[in-house]
Amino acid sequence: MSNLRNFREDFPILNEEVNGRKIIYFDSAATSQRPNQVLEAVLKYDHEANGNPHRGSHTLSMRATEAFEQVREKVRKFIGAKSTKEIIFTKNATEAINLVAYSYALNNLLPGDKIVITIAEHHANLVTWQQIAKKTKAELVFMYVDPSGRLPLGELHKIDEKTKIVACTHMSNVLGSIFPIEKVIERGHQMGAKVLIDGAQAVAHMPVDVSELDADFYVFSGHKMYSLMGVGVLYGKEEILDKMEPFLYGGDMIEYVYEEETSFNELPFKFEAGTQGIESVVSLGAAIDYLEEVTFEYIHEREMELTAYALSRLKELPYIRIIGPEDMNDRGAVISFVVEDIHPHDVSSILDNYGVGIRAGHHCAQPLLRYLEVFTCSRASFAFYNTKEEIDVLVDNLSEVRRWMGYGSR
Ligand SMILES: Cc1ncc(COP(=O)(O)O)c(C=O)c1O
Repeated sequence: MSNLRNFREDFPILNEEVNGRKIIYFDSAATSQRPNQVLEAVLKYDHEANGNPHRGSHTLSMRATEAFEQVREKVRKFIGAKSTKEIIFTKNATEAINLVAYSYALNNLLPGDKIVITIAEHHANLVTWQQIAKKTKAELVFMYVDPSGRLPLGELHKIDEKTKIVACTHMSNVLGSIFPIEKVIERGHQMGAKVLIDGAQAVAHMPVDVSELDADFYVFSGHKMYSLMGVGVLYGKEEILDKMEPFLYGGDMIEYVYEEETSFNELPFKFEAGTQGIESVVSLGAAIDYLEEVTFEYIHEREMELTAYALSRLKELPYIRIIGPEDMNDRGAVISFVVEDIHPHDVSSILDNYGVGIRAGHHCAQPLLRYLEVFTCSRASFAFYNTKEEIDVLVDNLSEVRRWMGYGSR
């Protein structure tokens, strides 16, 4: 049973001190911390198996290939894909979105077609489509959130017969709201569009089954789900990936190369040009094993308990405005807020004096913040390794922030 053990002890960094205080890490939506199990798996790989995967018939190269391909199978199972041909390793979620944009969209969109996205997209899933729209003369259409930060189903009517691409986040990195992606995918398919889901904020917090969802593409980054930085995943339906052109050219992605012509490797290798970040890939495999040990049941229960507690404590403070749903329906463990009269960068640096690490700024979602007329805000994001006591330190020190800046705490 997962909750018989204190998983927090698996994260050595949580014993670090910052400014003489024990660190309180509330920025897991930016990047999560890595447990010992992940770090040890990388060391083990480097001690026993490091070679260049797919590039040799000597033992270490073959061990590296085996380690690499084992992780692909783990990822396949983890997200419910039908085949390992549908699992492409990338550098991060951003690169996975760009792969689809350049390889699929650029070759399939015509002037007058529509790309429909939400106003809540991270720049990775917004700027990319904005630029593809410019290059193809397609129209970029936004679906807007309501004042509570949820996507109303009425907005889905913007997905029409002219729509060729729909790109939508599974969970907003600012609002914390979980979007109705099943409905988005259904509507997109009814209109004949391909649907890409940005799962960067979702995969570490809830089970995802891409086959059940019927998503055409689903992307995420390893570093937000307890692996090292430098690995991301593009899931794509085999029949779509098969028809797509390579994104990057070079070693590994080829079959035969002649002076004038090249034939390309089969899936998934066609999309993995050059030497991959194998340590990161190995760490992703270990992170999946770790998540399976902890269980999503435990993660969900713990993160929802922390989020509900943080929302209730923050609501005690009259100078705090929450950006995003204030209730617990369809939301994850991300809470953005404004501290009245005080710039988020001041909030963040004063809290850092108390060892508390939160994020400040536009959170790579400038159009969303402009739409909400907020422009910049603070964000605390939680993982199952956080505690209610840590939330108390955050909330208690927000009044210190007000005092430091010359305002009353009430
Ligand atoms: C919702 C969302 N999408 C995409 C990304 C981009 O992830 P990466 O920088 O790892 O490519 C992020 C990162 O914060 C995110 O929160």
